[in-house]
Amino acid sequence: MTDFSATKSMFHLPDGVLYLDGNSLGPLPKTAAGKVGAMVQDEWGQMLITGWNKAGWMGLPTHLGDRIGRLIGAEPGSVVVGDTLSIKVYQALASALELNPTRKVILSDNGNFPSDLYMADGLLRSLGPDYELRVVHPDDVAAQITEEIAVLMLTEVDYRTGRMHDMKALTELAHANGVLTVWDLAHSAGAIPVDLSGCNADFAAGCTYKYLNGGPGAPAFIYVAPRLMDRVRPALSGWLGHEAPFSFDLDYRPGAGIERMRVGTPPVVQMAALSAAMDIWDMAEIADIRAKSIELTELFIAGVEATCPGLTLASPRNPAQRGSQVSFHFNEGYAAMQALIARDVIGDFRAPDIMRFGFTPLYIDEGDVERAVDILADIIANRLWDRPEYKIRQRVT
Ligand SMILES: Cc1ncc(COP(=O)(O)O)c(C=O)c1O
Repeated sequence: MTDFSATKSMFHLPDGVLYLDGNSLGPLPKTAAGKVGAMVQDEWGQMLITGWNKAGWMGLPTHLGDRIGRLIGAEPGSVVVGDTLSIKVYQALASALELNPTRKVILSDNGNFPSDLYMADGLLRSLGPDYELRVVHPDDVAAQITEEIAVLMLTEVDYRTGRMHDMKALTELAHANGVLTVWDLAHSAGAIPVDLSGCNADFAAGCTYKYLNGGPGAPAFIYVAPRLMDRVRPALSGWLGHEAPFSFDLDYRPGAGIERMRVGTPPVVQMAALSAAMDIWDMAEIADIRAKSIELTELFIAGVEATCPGLTLASPRNPAQRGSQVSFHFNEGYAAMQALIARDVIGDFRAPDIMRFGFTPLYIDEGDVERAVDILADIIANRLWDRPEYKIRQRVT
């Protein structure tokens, strides 16, 4: 059983702040500053370049990949950390397309995060005019999986509404039609149980700065199914994905296993922060996280619906179809979110009208949810959002 009061005590949460935005950026693990400081002072400072060997910096991407792999049902040796999620999506897509050479269509949905669609579009432009990105409504995905499709690219949990795709069923349907799958786990890893191996997924990628709490700019991760690994020829063929980077050969040969999905020099300082976060994850069982997350989201929905007329639920009502976030439509959602933040309840806003709240059992409990509901109810009942300063759009919403 996960001890949630122990995990909560391991995060630095500013006094009085109710943090319901760990689905965007997780909070600071208390040990992160010490770990980063030690890395900087004792390793970078003292070891200089010898740290790549002495402190094992070069092995961190696969070491951290395996620690993340435990949370997403990945086989050991099938996950590596590095770069950003957009880049990892590109890599996965390019490799999946190459493995299905007679087909030219990527199928995705309009609930996908735009960056994934942009990356697909950019990739297809470089491949030529015969290729197509087909974007359909999330409810139509299954019906659109045909033998024409090369790759199905989906974000499992919708970033705006929290709606979940059925990874197992869609992957099975994809495979029955000769389609390869790329799953974006940005809103899944650390939020819900994921079983990449059990679902027979082909490729997946995710970020570590949301539910995994690796910090702003923390590196992404990529998964390749072991059964495909030897056939994958990375499109972003950087030197650290080479079989022998330090032989400095002029021709590219993919590295062994998941190592081939590395590109360039890994972000060592950032990985020190991520490893502090993974120490907390080592104390957690994802099944406990899921059970608690459902309790918290149900409590929040019931509280908001009882006290905030004018807000309508944008997330699926059935918790089995919802990730670990809850979203409400409200036409003054941006201003209301600014008013909430001014009262130390932090969520975020997604255009055009979505107030989004993340529920993260590692550090959020029932008392926090009840207090957040009370403050939101006060803001709505007394129109406290209706102030000019809350309506000025900032760069990040
Ligand atoms: C579902 C999803 N995919 C991709 C991205 C892009 O990630 P990055 O900025 O790390 O490339 C995000 C960012 O929030 C996201 O939510």
